[in-house]
Amino acid sequence: MSAKPNPAGYSPELALGIPELDDQHQGLFTLLGRIDAVSPDMYRQLDDDETDEMLDIMNDLKDSAMQHFSFEENLMGEADYPGLDDQQDAHERFLDDITRMEAELMNGTSVPPVKIHGFLADWFDGHIREMDLPFARFRKDNAG
Ligand SMILES: [Fe+2]
Repeated sequence: MSAKPNPAGYSPELALGIPELDDQHQGLFTLLGRIDAVSPDMYRQLDDDETDEMLDIMNDLKDSAMQHFSFEENLMGEADYPGLDDQQDAHERFLDDITRMEAELMNGTSVPPVKIHGFLADWFDGHIREMDLPFARFRKDNAG
């Protein structure tokens, strides 16, 4: 157990008990925390500089998410997890969502940061609860 406090939005119920995946999940929530610092007012549209900063965050998020997803899918493959296909679909749809958000940031139709942050945090929370935790239980039940 690390002494570091959980990043905002990461609840202890999301812990899988698989240290690498839990660290990666926490790292993704920490990245989302950067969104809060982009603008002094989370409820208004971003100006040009703030949009650039947000695009940097989206880029980092995409990189981290891609690395994390492939690590996670590998573990699932090694465990012959029957839910692997569904996971791959969900991960791909998430990356498509990020690409769409990047396009919206670039063409000036993006929603305020509070909504972007909310969408991403809800996605991670829901995905971990509904898809990753069942994998952690499967892995535990099939260990050894
Ligand atoms: Fe996943």
